Amino acid sequence: MTRTLTVATTRDELLAAQRRRGSAGSGGVGLVMTMGALHAGHASLIRAAREQSDTVVVTIFVNPMQFSPAEDLTRYPRTLDADLAVCATEGADIVFAPSAEEVYRGPREVTVHPGPLGDELEGASRPGHFAGVLTVVHKLLHIVSDVERAYFGEKDYQQLILVGRMVRDLDLTPEIVGRPIVREPDGLALSSRNRYLNPEERASATALSRALFAGAAAGGDSSRVLAAAHAVFEATSGVAVDYLELRSPDLGPAPTTGPARLLVAAKVGPVRLIDNVAIELT
Ligand code: PAJ
Repeated sequence: MTRTLTVATTRDELLAAQRRRGSAGSGGVGLVMTMGALHAGHASLIRAAREQSDTVVVTIFVNPMQFSPAEDLTRYPRTLDADLAVCATEGADIVFAPSAEEVYRGPREVTVHPGPLGDELEGASRPGHFAGVLTVVHKLLHIVSDVERAYFGEKDYQQLILVGRMVRDLDLTPEIVGRPIVREPDGLALSSRNRYLNPEERASATALSRALFAGAAAGGDSSRVLAAAHAVFEATSGVAVDYLELRSPDLGPAPTTGPARLLVAAKVGPVRLIDNVAIELT
């Protein structure tokens, strides 16, 4: 089936595009929120939405509120033409690519507070980050009409958990669908930031996934898992670990046995990377 991709940059254009489709489809909007610089990880979310929804909306918006002054918002890659090609190939119906003024009209006073988990893991080194993420996700879930499902990657595992918690605690109606991490053949999780790695850093960056997989393969209790993961970093130069933590699948304290999540953040040269994997503690 040939689909036409409609690009909307204002709320009015988005509403009009959704209304036009409303008479054709029976609702069932699947939403994929992104900051652009789309890669195969984003594409997998769009494909999942396509399989399950009448209308697929992709948002492309580099959200200023989730960047700290130290993180350079202006340096975030912007590749709109290539992004639109990915959206068209994966069968999206509507792309919403608004300006910051279109999303944040006037001063920001009321925002979403992420609760205690917002200050842990990623939140510990990125104060205010998850308030920015949840505020924009909440807004986009309403700016886009009739969202039935919203798709998020496990790549940003803490974001996925916090979005799920926001939907639960604030009684939002969309279903939050988590999707697996898409990786390079050597294990590196796809990220828009990978393009900033030089060849030497790119080689060192595989330490993150190698450490996680070593932890998962080691099995046993938490100390065995963590020792196996730490050993990989000890044998690798050029990688500064920010955290390597075992948690429960919902990011509470790690259980003694059963399903858990191993999460890592590290700086490889100037680039901060994150990754995580499911672990079975025995
Ligand atoms: P962004 O980093 O563009 O990611 C958009 C979505 O793609 C997120 O759900 C993220 O987890 C997913 N994703 C990224 N890399 C992936 C990979 N390798 N495999 C699978 N999924 C992957 O996350 C954000 O944007 C923003 O915080 C946003 C939610 C859009 C709010 O501004």
